[in-house]
Amino acid sequence: MATSRSSDSRSGFNRRDFLRGSGAAAVVTALQTELDAQQQAADSAIVSGPTKIQLNVNGQTREVVVEPRTTLLEALRYQLDLTGAKPVCNDGSSGAATVLVDGKPLQANLLLAVACVGKTVRTVESLGGDTPDVVPLAFVEHDAEQCGFCTPGFVVAVRAFLDKNPQATDAEIRAGLNGNLCRCGTYANIIQAAIALAKGGN
Ligand code: FES
Repeated sequence: MATSRSSDSRSGFNRRDFLRGSGAAAVVTALQTELDAQQQAADSAIVSGPTKIQLNVNGQTREVVVEPRTTLLEALRYQLDLTGAKPVCNDGSSGAATVLVDGKPLQANLLLAVACVGKTVRTVESLGGDTPDVVPLAFVEHDAEQCGFCTPGFVVAVRAFLDKNPQATDAEIRAGLNGNLCRCGTYANIIQAAIALAKGGN
């Protein structure tokens, strides 16, 4: 033992250091095992790869196969052939991808499709058809489009705004629609269409 102690002293590393070190190593190993288990659990909870989901779109249950990164806009346009909402920007600043989700105007390009499961999605297509909503009719009446690229987003935005503010003043309408841009500058006619609806019933 004396030899061992002197040997430990000579090397500058004694048994106590070793035991202390092994205890720390055991703690680190246990911690790593726990972290690995947590990571494994997290990995299994993450949806990866194409997944089949159901979306309630324009009053119908529609099935789409999406990846976790698929936006609502991509699912609408490329799987359901609902191309009214437009991919104009990546940050929602244009308002061209406006749709109603649970009645609220949101940008479909900023929403993940999987996040819309269990919600109601309404696109501009629901305002057209054989008996169009009064909003697109007012746009026609007031010649409120040029190239038309912004029009679907504006139509949905006007519908959402008037649903919430049916008696809106001119100033309120201007402020309420400021989330949508028109590169052709047709704002005056778009605002006039919305004002006419607020004044004449919508
Ligand atoms: S009509 Fe062309 S962007 Fe608005």
